[in-house]
Amino acid sequence: MRVLVTGGAGYIGSVVAAQLLATGHEVVVVDDLSTGHADAVPPGAQFHQLGITDLDPVIGEWGIEAVLHFAAKSLVGESTENPALYWRNNVAGTVALLDTMKAFGIGRIVFSSSAATYGDAEQQPIREDAPARPTSPYGASKLAVDLALTDYSHAYGLGAVSLRYFNVAGALHAPTGSFGERHATETHLIPNALRAAAGAGELALFGTDYPTPDGTCVRDYVHVVDLADAHVRALGATEPGRHRIVNLGSGRGFSVREVLDTVGAVVGRAVPVVERERRAGDPPVLVAANERARAELGWAPERDLTAMIADAWRFESGRPDRQ
Ligand code: UFG
Repeated sequence: MRVLVTGGAGYIGSVVAAQLLATGHEVVVVDDLSTGHADAVPPGAQFHQLGITDLDPVIGEWGIEAVLHFAAKSLVGESTENPALYWRNNVAGTVALLDTMKAFGIGRIVFSSSAATYGDAEQQPIREDAPARPTSPYGASKLAVDLALTDYSHAYGLGAVSLRYFNVAGALHAPTGSFGERHATETHLIPNALRAAAGAGELALFGTDYPTPDGTCVRDYVHVVDLADAHVRALGATEPGRHRIVNLGSGRGFSVREVLDTVGAVVGRAVPVVERERRAGDPPVLVAANERARAELGWAPERDLTAMIADAWRFESGRPDRQ
């Protein structure tokens, strides 16, 4: 299929674009490079430096049959300080994209949604029918798009799948190159822990008094290559007039301390840690129920936490092209 990948110069978008190419799809990437990197667009993809509101009418020349939509602002903290950025980019931008798709007869979309749509869920693991009560404008923006997709699918026959990611980690090391996490502002645990283990200073551990077995937050980590595999499957699962919402997680949680121990084991050096206060907005536990992904996409995660950290370390340590 000939697909458009928005945000294909970013972390997850570049990995999915590479996997789509590897599975025989033709890929057109658009990215405004506000946070992405042009050299992250995989070889073999056609690239246009454009925003998602700038696709009408050029999209008509590209022969697109489906859209995988990653382009978005994705910092929870930033979203609380500047919600307008999130409502404009993530919500208004996506509605403009959906309207462009409608105008040009493009009837399938796979959307990067988030566990942030659920907020502080009362029951773990979190099922897709759990109440959506986001605790940040970022989460609200992802939920707003999910709601729009439901309406567009019912009214206009759009075939849509929202994939609600839990904690994505790792990198893709492929014959065509390596694709991983390169955020200018890095807030995620694993890359920060790898940098600390490599000598870049202490890792700030946010909160040691949570109601969890070791007092630190528990998260459900999923390898970005497994996540990419789910996108390829989701593309095949789009059906006209139907909007599916599917969690992507392993169903198993790891505490921050367990992650830090694994990082230390992979790198061969303990992560230096300084204990800090809780970070605002962090729920104690977020673990996915992934039965729907198994049943509807035939998907199951294959790579464990050690593999995620090893692949992220290989990317982070600047030897991504070595075997
Ligand atoms: N953490 C630290 N130190 C750091 C970074 C993180 O202690 O330097 C802790 C956090 O406090 C949290 C855990 O490690 O307890 C995981 O934090 P991440 O920032 O790696 O991931 P989050 O669970 O906060 O974020 C993920 C997604 C977001 C999504 C959010 C929903 O990355 O996109 O879940 O809550 F919005």
